[in-house]
Amino acid sequence: MIRRRYNKLEGLNNKYGEWKCDKDDMKTIALSYFTKLFLSQSPKVNVDSLPRFFPILEEGLNDILNRESLLAGFDNKDEDIGESGKELEILEPNGSGSGRESEDDFVKKMEEVRKIPERDGAGIVSVKEVIATDEKRSDLECQLSQKEINLEKLQRIAYSGLPDGGVSEAKTSVDAPIVNGLSWTFYKKSCPKAESIIRTQLKKVFKKDIGQAAGLLRLHFHDCFVQGCDGSVLLDGSASGPGEQEATPNLTLRKEAFDIIDDLRERVHKACGRVVSCSDIVAIAARDSVTLSGGPDYELPLGRRDGLTFATAQATVDNLVPPTADTTFLLNRLATKNLDKTDAVALSGGHTIGISHCSSFTDRLYPTQDPTMDETFANNLKKTCPALDTPNTVFQDIRTPNVFDNKYYVDLMNRQGLFTSDQDLYTDKRTRDIVTSFAVDEKLFFDQFALSMIKMGQMSVLTGIQGEVRANCSIRNPDNKSYLASVVDDEVTEEGWSAEL
Ligand code: HEM
Repeated sequence: MIRRRYNKLEGLNNKYGEWKCDKDDMKTIALSYFTKLFLSQSPKVNVDSLPRFFPILEEGLNDILNRESLLAGFDNKDEDIGESGKELEILEPNGSGSGRESEDDFVKKMEEVRKIPERDGAGIVSVKEVIATDEKRSDLECQLSQKEINLEKLQRIAYSGLPDGGVSEAKTSVDAPIVNGLSWTFYKKSCPKAESIIRTQLKKVFKKDIGQAAGLLRLHFHDCFVQGCDGSVLLDGSASGPGEQEATPNLTLRKEAFDIIDDLRERVHKACGRVVSCSDIVAIAARDSVTLSGGPDYELPLGRRDGLTFATAQATVDNLVPPTADTTFLLNRLATKNLDKTDAVALSGGHTIGISHCSSFTDRLYPTQDPTMDETFANNLKKTCPALDTPNTVFQDIRTPNVFDNKYYVDLMNRQGLFTSDQDLYTDKRTRDIVTSFAVDEKLFFDQFALSMIKMGQMSVLTGIQGEVRANCSIRNPDNKSYLASVVDDEVTEEGWSAEL
């Protein structure tokens, strides 16, 4: 339901998520909604239909996002992207920095969006054409009001990080198996506010730069695949050798992601003492990154403990997956971690947000172009990455680069996947149907993604009295007995000692 000026309702979603503008239909929907609301024992606002708003964007906003000018070069510094982003006010959410805008401002922006088709003559809905008859005008009103809802949802995500006030509380309840030692209510007594402290802070972080969500999501994946989700990726190297961070695949992890995690750790420890582990904070931050950029919200099993050691560079490379991997390689590697092909396709959907450096995929462009790659897509990539070693970056999902949705799978079906490991999921018969099913059904993807993340997030976790709860995410606790026994020449910082709370 959308409230516009003068409280005029333009349309309503029925229970199947279909947008209805006919007055009688609207009356029936409204009556049934309020009847249910007041007669039900435990009235709940149905949020399940929210994700279904996104496919509608294909017709409107996605056409803008797909404009030639936008695709001409999708380096994130590209001016065209900046311009299109400004029109939509979603790619640069921090624009004015003034938080959520007033309804009047929003309406003004909608007027601008409405003008776009007339300005470039190749738009979504040709305003001139459609107002020819009254009937057509009301069709247009209906389409625009529907588009408005979607834009508004994107704006809410961009500005406040949350799809809707009420939605924030509505987590998908996932029937996921849980390993011994973890619990759905682990910090209920010791730090009941842990998750809300993290989410509140991340909303602020993402309001300034939504790109950080991708960095945090990837950090959790790189933590879990190497030695299990034990926060080992956060550890600085020591006298015993370089840390995991120095292994090649980790060189492109965002430095800010490490800083954000330690800042969250400080906030949570300030509120509760040293009870919440860094590995749990990484897991929560990854989940919140998904939710706050438009993806599903789901409960997490918690209680991970932080590891005392980090893996070698070789072990790090051996456990992660290179972007050059084909599906056989990918499935074999994931099978060693008890993840199946559905998990492989769902987790790869993490590439619906974030960026990649040219060096991660230019092997598909030079010296010979990968024939499975869409020609226009390849030509655009070449503009940003004119040589193998260009240091630039591109968005991973060209359709909606900062929104967690199912467009990554639409990209794959259009041969616009960035890495071999992405595109081959659609080429390979074993995974092709899974890609298609996620591309046509976003809810199916969201539910599976939540399940696979929970599964990945429990890999080889330390629990109980194993490991420790680090006082500083990047170094082991100096008072840990095994630390004192085995390490003599590591540097122990002031912060490491004093962070005991
Ligand atoms: C399993 C196969 C995977 C491969 C081969 C792979 C590979 C890569 C590569 C090469 C990059 C770009 C790094 C760069 O050049 O900057 C990247 C980025 C990213 N990956 Fe993956 N990845 C995989 C799985 C995952 C999973 C399971 C997730 C999370 C669920 C994930 C989330 C991300 C995100 C969010 C980014 C963007 C990071 C940013 O913007 O800073 N990836 N991945």
